[in-house]
Amino acid sequence: MTKIHRDPDPDSLARRAAEFISKRAEAALKQSGRFSLVLAGGSTPTATYCELGGLLMRNGLDLQGIEVYWGDERCVPPDHPQSNYRMAKETLLDDLGLGSSQVFRMSCEKAPEAGAKRYEEMLRERFPSAAAPRFDLILLGLGADAHTASLFPGSKLLQERERWVAAEKVASLNSWRMTLTPLAINGARQVLFLVQGESKTDAVYEVIVGAHGPRQFPAQSIEPEDGELHWFLDEAAAGRI
Ligand code: 6PG
Repeated sequence: MTKIHRDPDPDSLARRAAEFISKRAEAALKQSGRFSLVLAGGSTPTATYCELGGLLMRNGLDLQGIEVYWGDERCVPPDHPQSNYRMAKETLLDDLGLGSSQVFRMSCEKAPEAGAKRYEEMLRERFPSAAAPRFDLILLGLGADAHTASLFPGSKLLQERERWVAAEKVASLNSWRMTLTPLAINGARQVLFLVQGESKTDAVYEVIVGAHGPRQFPAQSIEPEDGELHWFLDEAAAGRI
């Protein structure tokens, strides 16, 4: 199931996305006592994370069941300005005061490939005997080149059928990244793309409406096996659909 949610501007997009995530967290915690949330990096999610912390705290939820993971990470130290972990810590995690046993940082600043192996081993312990991790909710962004997480055009990871986590040097950025593979992302109950701005209009069109070509448009490889796909878009990003 794919659902497109359109909002007039980034502020209303952030509010609505935060409300959606908060409601999902509440339902999962009530049902199973567990809510596994995978965070996106980049700049788009920051406003949503700032809204989300307050909602989760206000709803009086027992936050001990929340587990926070990342969909991808730049291979830099956790206090680096480019770190997705640092961005989430400053906009969400510091508000929530989660315990260290609830936050699973992608550590790849020293040895990316070994870090990816360790992250996958951790995931396989927490989601045992599964073909893919059954995360409750994964947040993703979209690049103007239609990359998502750190799955970039032409990446061999787009054909990965075994690994859940991998690291590779991204030629276009000349830097290392760690990322969940499409196999791991597509196991989720719900996947939400958060996309805003005119710079993403064409990418949104190509991914949602354009011809199928995930090597060129990696976000097309995101098709939950047994889950929901949601697009939260502002009018600028949705301009061609
Ligand atoms: C990252 C992200 C990446 C991001 C897109 C969009 O680590 O950069 O995971 O996939 O979501 O590049 O980034 P913006 O939200 O900054 O446009």
